Amino acid sequence: MVEMENVSKKYGPAEVVSNVTLRAEAGETLVIIGPSGCGKTTVLKMINRMVVNSSGSIKVNGININQVDPVELRRGIGYVIQQIGLLPHLTVQDNIAFVLQLMGVSRSIQAERAKELIRLVGLHPEYLHKRPQHLSGGQQQRIGVARALAADPSVVLMDEPFGAVDPITRQQLQEMVLALQREMRKTILFVTHDIQEAFKLGSRIAIMKEGKIVKIGTPIELIREKDDFVHRLLGRRAIFDFLENVPVSAALDPTVPVFTLGQNVAVKTERWEYGMAIDFERHFLGVVEKKHWGGSDNNFNHCGADSCRLTIKPEVSVSDAIQIMLWEGYRWLPVVQNEIFIGVVTFESCAKMMRE
Ligand SMILES: Nc1ncnc2c1ncn2[C@@H]1O[C@H](COP(=O)(O)OP(=O)(O)OP(=O)(O)O)[C@@H](O)[C@H]1O
Ligand SMILES: [Mg+2]
Repeated sequence: MVEMENVSKKYGPAEVVSNVTLRAEAGETLVIIGPSGCGKTTVLKMINRMVVNSSGSIKVNGININQVDPVELRRGIGYVIQQIGLLPHLTVQDNIAFVLQLMGVSRSIQAERAKELIRLVGLHPEYLHKRPQHLSGGQQQRIGVARALAADPSVVLMDEPFGAVDPITRQQLQEMVLALQREMRKTILFVTHDIQEAFKLGSRIAIMKEGKIVKIGTPIELIREKDDFVHRLLGRRAIFDFLENVPVSAALDPTVPVFTLGQNVAVKTERWEYGMAIDFERHFLGVVEKKHWGGSDNNFNHCGADSCRLTIKPEVSVSDAIQIMLWEGYRWLPVVQNEIFIGVVTFESCAKMMRE
């Protein structure tokens, strides 16, 4: 946990960080975003005392950082920067284990831990004996993350760590952070310029401007924010950027009629011209036109269901589902996983999910 209260930083007369108050909980990824020069890096560096704050209080896991020896403090705080900063004359293993070596950990434990960490960041242990310059930018960035995690810190500071890699590698690295965070539940403070990255990784997002935090909140709170600066920073596509990270399973339409094979259920709905047909194990059979619904002869059993044109998986994003509906001209799409019917997503259900 990191708590900053009324923290300011002055260089001479210039105040580059003003009265920043924030709190990042264990397991939370707090993203800090804002224009160049607004003080993001300075905020991070004050937490591990690479920069000393001029006023205010900073606590890491409840302890005021001024009461801890800086070296001791940094051991408990991983730090990943854009320029990676791997040491070229050391092997990957020695780079990862650098802090452990400083701590006097034995070579064999260093090797063991490096192997564990390199797997954790998704690379094969064979890379351990290479030099950093023989790795791609994305692989080096993974090593940078492994190194930051070496001493198992409870807090990790990441300063635009993926700014210099191509978009696909960047996405893979973001997935890695998400996976690591699900497993390890660190307190992560993550600085970025990229709003999509912020929405993807941030449980909450702090927006900074000229040394101050103008707004802090969940992605959806920020999207709803009226403030002009916040709007301009998030951009006009913000809602789609946000919906890219919401799975359709969170936006299902409960009103759709569902028929189980062999069961004769009368359904009354004005909204739906089609119903979904499933068997007793919820396998998706297809769609049934309204004229075949109900009735004593249970038409559905005889004629069967029309096989469905297109289904999507529950992990597809709401943003992608909306695009598919627009492109294909559908108003709804069945959501199916391994042939099991999960539900139906509609434009209305997406809108409803946003409202709530
Ligand atoms: N050592 C220093 N001495 C004087 N001014 C400094 C020093 N370090 C940073 N600054 C100033 O503090 C302000 C905030 O810098 P900081 O590096 O925190 O910005 P940032 O938000 O991280 O920017 P960027 O997005 O470009 O990385 C800038 O105006 C910068 O020039
Ligand atoms: Mg910076």
